[in-house]
Amino acid sequence: MKLLILNGPNLNMLGIREPAVYGRETYRDLEDKITAYAARKGVQAEIRQTNSEGQLVDWIQQAYFDKVDGIVINPAAYTHTSVALLDAVKAVSIPTVEVHISDVSKREEFRQVSYVRAACLHTVSGLGTDGYLKAIDLLLEHLT
Ligand code: DQA
Repeated sequence: MKLLILNGPNLNMLGIREPAVYGRETYRDLEDKITAYAARKGVQAEIRQTNSEGQLVDWIQQAYFDKVDGIVINPAAYTHTSVALLDAVKAVSIPTVEVHISDVSKREEFRQVSYVRAACLHTVSGLGTDGYLKAIDLLLEHLT
């Protein structure tokens, strides 16, 4: 089982950016946590981060050709703006779970909109970085 874990803009700044909202774990801590969990579950997880919307689209498209089984995506700010990401997830038809570290439903109004959500199996929000692990579980439930 091959999973792709995608992270959008500013998530590389975890631990530094707004710790009251996103916590004190660093991006490296997040990578280690996901890698350890995936190993325990016996799945392959490739973890990537970019600040660029087009790069996320390219990685989603490539996942189709690489026969990726499932995608976990935290599109970060592109959640609230990107039709291109919605179209990319729709285009590849790979089961995808959307994750947010913070509880976006309790934040500013502009964060209530998620374009990509319409193409996702589930949205996990407000569980901190454990949300990525929950997303992996949801994908495994769906895929097995
Ligand atoms: C986020 C929430 C987004 O609104 C924000 O732009 C982010 C991170 C989260 O993980 O809580 O960068 O996706």
